[in-house]
Amino acid sequence: MISQNSIAKVFETARVEEVIGDFVQLKKSGSNFKGLSPFSDERSPSFMVSPVKQIWKDFSSGKGGNAVSFLMEHEHFTYPEAIKYLAKKYNIEIEETERTNEEKEQANARESLYLVSEFANEYFQKTLHKTDQGKAIGLSYFKERGFTDDIIEKFQLGYSLDEWQAFTDEALGKGYKLDFLEQTGLTIVKGEKRFDRFKGRVMFPIHSMSGRILGFGGRILTNDKKAAKYLNSPESEIYHKSKILYGLYFAKQSIAKEDNCYLVEGYTDVIQFYQTGVENVVSSSGTALTAEQIRLINRLTNNITVLFDGDAAGMRASLRGIDLILEQGMNVRVCTFPDGEDPDSFAKANSYNELTEYLQENAMDFIQFKASILVKDANNDPIKKAETIRNIVNSIAKIPDQIKREVYIQECARIMDISENVLFSTLAQINKKGYQDANKKIKQEQKAFDVVKSNEAQKQKVNVQYELERKIIEILMLYGDKEEDFEDLVLKEDEVSGELILEPVVHKTRVFEKIYLDLQEDEMQFTDEKFRALYYNIIDQLHQADEFSTKDFINQLDQDSASTVTSILMEDEKYTLHDWQRNQIIPKDKNKSVPQLVSQTILSLRCYLIDKKVAEYKEDTKRESSDTRAIIEDVKDYLGLKMLLSRKLGKVVGG
Ligand code: CTP
Ligand code: MN
Repeated sequence: MISQNSIAKVFETARVEEVIGDFVQLKKSGSNFKGLSPFSDERSPSFMVSPVKQIWKDFSSGKGGNAVSFLMEHEHFTYPEAIKYLAKKYNIEIEETERTNEEKEQANARESLYLVSEFANEYFQKTLHKTDQGKAIGLSYFKERGFTDDIIEKFQLGYSLDEWQAFTDEALGKGYKLDFLEQTGLTIVKGEKRFDRFKGRVMFPIHSMSGRILGFGGRILTNDKKAAKYLNSPESEIYHKSKILYGLYFAKQSIAKEDNCYLVEGYTDVIQFYQTGVENVVSSSGTALTAEQIRLINRLTNNITVLFDGDAAGMRASLRGIDLILEQGMNVRVCTFPDGEDPDSFAKANSYNELTEYLQENAMDFIQFKASILVKDANNDPIKKAETIRNIVNSIAKIPDQIKREVYIQECARIMDISENVLFSTLAQINKKGYQDANKKIKQEQKAFDVVKSNEAQKQKVNVQYELERKIIEILMLYGDKEEDFEDLVLKEDEVSGELILEPVVHKTRVFEKIYLDLQEDEMQFTDEKFRALYYNIIDQLHQADEFSTKDFINQLDQDSASTVTSILMEDEKYTLHDWQRNQIIPKDKNKSVPQLVSQTILSLRCYLIDKKVAEYKEDTKRESSDTRAIIEDVKDYLGLKMLLSRKLGKVVGG
């Protein structure tokens, strides 16, 4: 268990924009930050972070909350995991009671897989640095490859002893369950026998974006032609090869900063680049790039540079995978290395300046690159040339942006020395087929959207009360603890004429008290259950303390209520984000003073309730048995009250 004290310290220190900034590229937008939603596949940003309110809101998925809830959503952390992660990030020491054996058992299965992997990572590193075999074989291998001590430590490289079950025995002895050792693939179980999967290999741990150990790659050190050079962890609950990029944990900051990501093939390419000083580099670990992996990069930058080894065969095969990157709307460049060199060997043999200069000079736009090598291939063979044209235009067709597509067509026409018209008509042909499918889909989506739209419109008409209740919650959270001058119009007898007049009186009151008393006076109940609960919760807090911190308030709410609250607090941002027409119910003017805002909202609510009452009476008069005259009297009273209120409202709005 983490002590309450430590949790409080973590909440005090953590800044939501910094925490999220490690995962999502955030751009300043007014007093907020915005970025691409990490929870959906989108191209225009609908993800907002408010440093002032210390909350985030994802308008595409509806999720929202504080720094901790972000980590729980995004990294699938449990609450204690999120707290620990933040503590680590901010160098806060956590007071914690030692895990007992029982607690170890209780931790859920996935957590156990993480723990086993973390243990293995420690173990392999210890073995590399502290055992004779580790030093003599593992460490000297890394040194031979030119890795420095710093980089070996940074990437947490390790060594697995050349023994059948040294690791497994150690782990079992420490109380880790065989079941989890098997699920992570660290141990292979065959009947009564257990084997260390990575026996005699140097180890490359694979980190999640937040630095947790998900799995390993192990490289063999002998020249055994039958054994695989690299062995990787099998798929498991925590290791999904297609969703992981090796090195991303170390590269993410630099990728965002440089606004570009280098993509290489192997573990050693990543490490060697990093050591040379080019830190924005990741690897797909020898497999074809997947859409999920591209999305991981796309959260950090729009630009990707694919680096190819000097061998042409591998390069041709990979060209196809690149269409996937284009489909995601990213800008793709490619760079090849001289014959016989790969990124690893090239970075090793060159300085930072030489490497970056080389990359700068040789990185080429993907479409141009593809056009130029295919043109070389096709040479004078007309049939092949036609095929090539189709091939390139196919790639161009994947680009979502029309202007970009046109620029590329022009560019390719030049490179391939054919007319633009031919290329454009090929593009049209390709599009026609894909178009019909896509069109169907768009139409369907449009229909769904129309339904949503009309629902929205309807809801807005009916839900004036909902909107106003929501607004009251917002005001309470933002200004509830403030003391303000409220001007009230009270009925008074004029001392001279004896007539009844409205006279303004100013009270100094805390905002929440004003709201609370006004609503009580009207015997107004929140109709929305969630809002009602929140309302009493907030009033309660405000009664007890002089100040109200939205951050603390949200922190003590359950996930669902926290999400409602962040939605409310982020509402304004939503409208600025999409530049939507704000609906008419709620006061628009942001510069309005707090008392004006409060009075207007409450008066609007009163007027609304009166209208509702009057409408109910009208219904009543339709019934035969009703006492029409009495009802008309009541309605007149209400309408009189409404006029009075409207005048007040007019004064508030105007003033
Ligand atoms: N790979 C793999 N399994 C293999 C071979 C390769 O998973 N049997 C993956 C590894 O992630 C490796 C990458 O593909 O890093 C690139 O393979 P290769 O070019 O053969 O490896 P290098 O990184 O160049 O390895 P080294 O320099 O250590 O020989
Ligand atoms: Mn290599």
